[in-house]
Amino acid sequence: MSNIIVLGAQWGDEGKGKIVDLFSDRFDIVARYQGGHNAGHTVFIGPTKYILKLIPSGILRPGVTAVIGNGVVIDPLALVEEMSTLEKAGVNVREQLAISNRAHVIFPFHRMVEKVGEGRSDREAIGTTSRGIGPCYEDKIGRRGIRMADLIDPAGFADYYNNLAADKVTLAKAFDVHEVIDFAAIRAQYEELAARLAPLVTDTAALLNRAIRDGKRILFEGAQGAMLDIDHGTYPFVTSSNATAGGACTGTGVPPTKINGIIGVSKAYITRVGAGPFPSEDHGPLGEKIRQVGKEFGSVTGRPRRCGWFDIPLARYTAAVNGIDSLIVTKLDVLDELDEIPVCVGYKVNGVEVTEMPATRSSMEQVEPVYVRLKGWQSSTRGISVMEQLPPAAIEYLRFLEERTEVEIGAISTGPERTETIVRPGSKLHQLLG
Ligand code: GDP
Ligand code: IMO
Ligand code: MG
Repeated sequence: MSNIIVLGAQWGDEGKGKIVDLFSDRFDIVARYQGGHNAGHTVFIGPTKYILKLIPSGILRPGVTAVIGNGVVIDPLALVEEMSTLEKAGVNVREQLAISNRAHVIFPFHRMVEKVGEGRSDREAIGTTSRGIGPCYEDKIGRRGIRMADLIDPAGFADYYNNLAADKVTLAKAFDVHEVIDFAAIRAQYEELAARLAPLVTDTAALLNRAIRDGKRILFEGAQGAMLDIDHGTYPFVTSSNATAGGACTGTGVPPTKINGIIGVSKAYITRVGAGPFPSEDHGPLGEKIRQVGKEFGSVTGRPRRCGWFDIPLARYTAAVNGIDSLIVTKLDVLDELDEIPVCVGYKVNGVEVTEMPATRSSMEQVEPVYVRLKGWQSSTRGISVMEQLPPAAIEYLRFLEERTEVEIGAISTGPERTETIVRPGSKLHQLLG
C-alpha cells in the first residue's frame, strides 16, 4: 500500500493541482501539509476550472477525504469562502473535509504586519502574496500563535486572542504604525467562523495514522515548491514553511517510515512569481512568448510569472533534498512552437563551475548559467497521452532532462486536463500508483 508525496520541484505553480487531481482517485485521502491560501492549484475537469487554495485538490473526487494538516496556516474566512464555492459546484465538502486541530490561524492583523514588513524602505520586498502567511508562521514559531483547537475552544479563545492582540498593539507602537484595528470586531467575527468550522476540526494526525493502520492510501499534496522552502529555498526569497518532503511528516503527524514514494512536479521550463534570484530567467522575447503561450499569470494574485529555462543544477538539487523517486514534467505543449530550446546545464560563478547550489543571495545572483540548445519539435504535442506519439525531438528533449537530472521522468503533461497526460508504463511512478 503506497503512500506518496506530490510536491513542487521548482518555485511553485508546476501543475501540482492537475497531477494531484489526476491521481487522487487511487487514494483514500489527500492531505495538505504546509502553506495556506498563498497556494493556487488549478484543476480543469472538462471546461470547468477550479482553483483550490487551502483545500486539497483531492476534494474534487467524490469519496476522497481531504485533510488540512497541522502544518497548514488557515485563514478561516478564506476557508469558509472556498468551502462555499465548492459546495455550490456540488462538492460534498462537509462529508469530505477534515481540518487539523493543531493548524494555526491567520488573523487580519497578520496581513497588516506583512504589509508593514514588505513596505519598509530598509528592506527589499519579497513580493509575497499578502495573505498573512509569514507573520502567522512567525507567531507559531514564537509560541504565541492560536491553533484551530484554541479557536473553537469557547472557554479559552477570548484570553488567547486578547494576549495575541496585545502583542500586536505593542508591535504597532514599536513600528509607529497608526492603522486602526478593531480587535473586538475581529474576535466576534472569528467566534462566528469558529462555530461554522468546529464540526470539521479534529485530530487529523490520529485520523491519518488510523487510516494507514486500516490499509488506506494517502497522497500528500505539497504547496509552493522546493525552491520556496524556508530551509532549502532561495532564502530570504521563500515562503515561511517547509514545502520539501520532510514537511509532509511534520505537517501531518505521519512518520517517514509510512511514506513510500516522492513525486516531484516540474514544468518543461521554469517560472517564478515574486522577487529573488532566478539564474535561467529569460528577460527577452522568448520569455515573453512562454508567458503568453503558457498563460503564466499567478492563479492567486494575477501577477505575471517570470519565465526561464529548465534548470538542471536546480532540478538535481531539489531531487536530492526531497529524495525524488520520479519526476513529472508538465506543460511540454507550451514549448511546441520553439525551433530551439535552451536548457541550463551548469552554473558558473566568476568563471568557475560550481557543483553545489549556492547558499547566499549574492552568490545566487552572480550565477552565470551555462546553456545547451536543444532542437525544438515545432509541432503540436497538446493532448498526447502515449509516449510513442510524441515527436522525436520532444522525446529527445525529455531523454536529455532525464539523463542530466539522473531522475526518471515517470509522466508528462501535455495539457491542463486529466486526459492530457502520459504515464509511462514500467516507471517507478507507475509502480507507486499501483
Ligand atoms: P500548481 O500551483 O502547481 O497547482 O500550478 P498552478 O495551477 O498555479 O499553475 C499551473 C497552470 O498550468 C494551471 O493553469 C494549469 O491548468 C496549467 N497546466 C497544468 N498542466 C499543464 C500542461 O501540461 N499544459 C498546459 N498548457 N497547461 C497546464
Ligand atoms: P503554489 O502552491 C508560486 C511565492 C510568492 C513570494 C514568496 C513568499 O500555487 O505553487 P508568501 O505569500 O508565501 O509569504 O510569499 O512565495 N509563492 C508562490 N509562488 N506558487 C505558489 O503556490 C506560491 N506561494 C507563495 O510569490 O515570492
Ligand atoms: Mg499555483
